[in-house]
Amino acid sequence: MKRNPRDLVRYNASERANHWVVGICFILLALSGLAFFHPAFFPLTQLFGGGPWTRILHPYIGVVMALFFVIMACRFAKLNIVEPRDIDWLKNVNKMIDGDDHDMPEQGKYNGGQKLLFWGLVIGMALITVTGVLMWRAWWTLPVGVVRAASVVHAIAAVWMIGLIIMHVYAAIWTRGTIRAMLYGTVTRAWAKQHHRGWYRKMTGDND
Ligand code: HEM
Repeated sequence: MKRNPRDLVRYNASERANHWVVGICFILLALSGLAFFHPAFFPLTQLFGGGPWTRILHPYIGVVMALFFVIMACRFAKLNIVEPRDIDWLKNVNKMIDGDDHDMPEQGKYNGGQKLLFWGLVIGMALITVTGVLMWRAWWTLPVGVVRAASVVHAIAAVWMIGLIIMHVYAAIWTRGTIRAMLYGTVTRAWAKQHHRGWYRKMTGDND
């Protein structure tokens, strides 16, 4: 949906649907995973039909998230290759946090922070998926030492992922005009020019 015919398309419908399948699975996994992690969170199992159902559903939702994440990561990987201008941007990130983002180094479709976050998610997702599969005792029983080591790494990867996603959502809300990119697919020209000028030039041919 273009609210204004001059808006720029940032994500097509299939990219957006792909992202939201991952996002919804992530929230369901965080809620059900926390329920296993500490008794204080056990009431969360009520959202999934009780304890046994939560145990059954959690790994299957994990498989869906992993599959859709692989598709999304393949789509976005090339755009997240770190370039020298991203390093410059990261060196100046304090200015950005102070709200003085007018003379930040020019960025392509994604800035250095988004790219670091992307690769952090790829590493976290690989660890959480492999360790989750290793401890899926409904399907196979591996030596107890392997299951124990996998559970520790799974919990560490979960804390890592939840931390990264809190930062991701915070940055998306904090940078006004970003959420609509993942809701409707478009952003304003002013948003693109301010936050991703290299991408803006490429999309519009405007060399301002
Ligand atoms: C559930 C709450 C979430 C919200 C509100 C949200 C919001 C957004 C928004 C607005 C964008 C567009 C940013 C831009 O174009 O500059 C985006 C991009 C993206 N999101 Fe999310 N997201 C959420 C969850 C997730 C999860 C759980 C993952 C993966 C585990 C994820 C991975 C990504 C990736 C890979 C991109 C593309 C940016 C890049 O490649 O660097 N998001 N998200």
